[in-house]
Amino acid sequence: MTEYAKIEFEGKIYEFPIIVGSEGEKAIDISNLRQMTGLITLDPGYANTGSCISSITFMDGEKGILRYRGIPIEELAEHSSFIETTYLLINGRLPTRDELNQTSILFNDHSLVHEDMQIFYQNFPRASHPMGILSAMVNALRSFYPELQTIEEEINITVTRLLSKVRTMAAMSYKISRGHKVVYPRPDLSYCANFLNMMFDTPVKHYDIDEDLVKALNTFWILHADHEQNCSTSAVRLVGSGRVNLYAAISAGIAALWGPLHGGANQAVIEMLSDIQEDGGNYHRAIERAKDKKDPFRLMGFGHRVYKSYDPRAKIMKKMCHKVLKKLHITDPLLNMAKELEAAALKDDYFIEYNLYPNVDFYSGIILRAMGIPTNMFTVMFAIGRLPGWIAQWKEGADDPKWKLGRPRQIYTGPKKTQYIPIDKRCTQ
Ligand code: CMC
Repeated sequence: MTEYAKIEFEGKIYEFPIIVGSEGEKAIDISNLRQMTGLITLDPGYANTGSCISSITFMDGEKGILRYRGIPIEELAEHSSFIETTYLLINGRLPTRDELNQTSILFNDHSLVHEDMQIFYQNFPRASHPMGILSAMVNALRSFYPELQTIEEEINITVTRLLSKVRTMAAMSYKISRGHKVVYPRPDLSYCANFLNMMFDTPVKHYDIDEDLVKALNTFWILHADHEQNCSTSAVRLVGSGRVNLYAAISAGIAALWGPLHGGANQAVIEMLSDIQEDGGNYHRAIERAKDKKDPFRLMGFGHRVYKSYDPRAKIMKKMCHKVLKKLHITDPLLNMAKELEAAALKDDYFIEYNLYPNVDFYSGIILRAMGIPTNMFTVMFAIGRLPGWIAQWKEGADDPKWKLGRPRQIYTGPKKTQYIPIDKRCTQ
């Protein structure tokens, strides 16, 4: 039986149905609110607004739960591969062995990038940020791969192209930015091994693929693969709702992810830790600054809109960080400082009161650094990982025959109607 919420306004009572999700989450369906009452809702940052109904990812921020298609992130991180998780997110179920093999073959078949794209790369100014380049290049893919005959074929092939080419493009931009020869994808290598090889193999030094690092990269990308209606995913859905092509929608997602409050936090964390270290290692000062409301400084890698307990991805990332550093015989002073900073912050009254815990980005930069990924490529690594989630969320919208154009309203507070004054009659002072 449907439950209703009642709103009383100007002496009248209006009823709105309650929508219940499969995990018992409840929402008031206010899609007819304005029509019935003349009112709209105001919710800056959409903190209380459900923008869609989705069956892809479930999060419980209070309990620190994250599941893709019902499967806990801890199980996927332990047992799955990035390609298998990608299949799960996009198709709604785990693949059979045949389907998984077929997916890998398709990714290999589409892994090359049009040679003409290298000219674009070479002409970006040297100081360009790789996220700006990636966003522009993903958008440009549309011009290189024009429309196909049927919508079904179009979607399948575009999704495959995007997933496969994005890692080639990321590695290519790194090589070109260093003035090195581009390394092409190899059909004998898996998705993650191929990426590491394209990044680090050189004509003078052969890159030995380390299976532990391949596993770590798989886990890293699985942890980033989806996170329901976050800033960049909402950007993909909103831009996509205008029926733009998928490349353009993903390009918008990449741009949104770039920000330091979102995916750009992984770069910002390492920069923050390095600054503290260069300044003598006094992390207590950083904590004090983060608490000072007159100081815009925030402790990067701490806090989350949804998680009000430990981010489950951060737990896995922290463990993996130790494993990777041990395996590579690396002692990173930033890791020790990160752990001390975390312990001090978690005991601090401000962080306790505001429920601020480490998020996925707090430890991820230390792993990426150990792998040899340059700091300005950290957010690109996040973007490659988030791609299956963006695609799955876009597809869920596109598969809905009632996918509505995203178009929020506003409360206007500007001037009331005012007259235009021709320039020669305006006060010149
Ligand atoms: N350090 C100090 N204070 C903080 C922090 C922080 N990292 N995060 C939140 N606060 C305070 C903030 O100052 C505010 O205080 P007040 O209410 O007194 O003004 C209060 O907590 C609420 O902050 P908010 O920005 O309104 O809340 P939010 O839910 O929008 O915050 C956040 C989420 C991620 C933007 C924020 O925690 C933050 O800026 N964190 C640092 C950046 C970061 O690590 N981002 C990565 C997020 S995880 C990756 C991803 O999925 O995008």
